[in-house]
Amino acid sequence: MIHTENLTRSFKHVVAVHDLNLHIKSGEVFGFLGPNGAGKTTTVRMLAGLIPPSSGRAEVVGFSVGRDNHKIRHHVGVLTETPGLYEKLSAYLNLEFYAKLFEVENRDQQIEKHLTTLGLWDRRKDPVGTFSKGMRQKVAIARALLHDPQILFLDEPTSGLDPESARTVRDAIAELAQGEGRTIFLCTHNLHEAEGLCDQIGMMKQTLIKVGVPRELKQELFEAQTVVEFNHMPADVDKLLDFPFVRQFRIDPSSLTMTLEDPALQNSQVISRLVEHGAEIRYVRPEEKSLEDVYLALVGEDATS
Ligand SMILES: Nc1ncnc2c1ncn2[C@@H]1O[C@H](COP(=O)(O)OP(=O)(O)OP(=O)(O)O)[C@@H](O)[C@H]1O
Ligand SMILES: [Mg+2]
Repeated sequence: MIHTENLTRSFKHVVAVHDLNLHIKSGEVFGFLGPNGAGKTTTVRMLAGLIPPSSGRAEVVGFSVGRDNHKIRHHVGVLTETPGLYEKLSAYLNLEFYAKLFEVENRDQQIEKHLTTLGLWDRRKDPVGTFSKGMRQKVAIARALLHDPQILFLDEPTSGLDPESARTVRDAIAELAQGEGRTIFLCTHNLHEAEGLCDQIGMMKQTLIKVGVPRELKQELFEAQTVVEFNHMPADVDKLLDFPFVRQFRIDPSSLTMTLEDPALQNSQVISRLVEHGAEIRYVRPEEKSLEDVYLALVGEDATS
């Protein structure tokens, strides 16, 4: 659905995107993560046929970026970083205005369909100026969907929203991802959001640093650890961990975190020995790494924003 080969874009002396190679399948929700200035928006603008690449190639819905931009624009919808809406016009009239401008067929049905999907049909006659930020963002998403594009580019759809509004927008994106098999390209700084919504994640910093399924990225980067929480910890726990397969451990006041060669096989051996030596165990759990840990490991601690 989206393929790029050494896609590059410079602005005067700034190389915003360098040798980007992306492959995104139809129906996939692709999360595009990266620090400020990483080149995410520039990539979206190229892939949506809004600005030409400096070099390299890209194919979107089977069309070549640069050569077939007008066809690409027909098949993609874009929610930009700052979607402007007419505050005094109702949600319906905002959408009607764009539908006319872009010569959308079956205007009324399309507007009704997307306002309904996004839960705004009952509020269609209210001026957008009276809407909450989350509702406005949903109107902007409906606008990007009016021509039923095969690919929807969402550039930070929940940035600047409070947690509740962000959630309504996120739920709407999840709905869109479920139905109709639309491909969604989601730029976000919200790692929790990316983890919840995306089939695949690309970490971007001028070029693609890493790409993969969130769960696999975590497994690849971090060894599985086991955490044992105690009600009573035996004395000299470190001596009890004298197994050849214990690779590493850390003892905290009421817990033990350990890395074993094969936790599924060896956890029980360690636990049995601890109990034999008087341990009262409250909980044994795998140490969960988050996508944020992956992001920070790859992009660097200085990159959080
Ligand atoms: N129109 C432009 N003219 C000059 N430089 C630009 C232009 N657009 C982007 N850039 C530069 O390209 C680089 C990448 O910008 P881009 O907006 O693509 O980053 P981003 O990953 O979307 O960042 P953010 O997370 O802050 O939105 C930045 O250094 C930016 O200054
Ligand atoms: Mg951006």
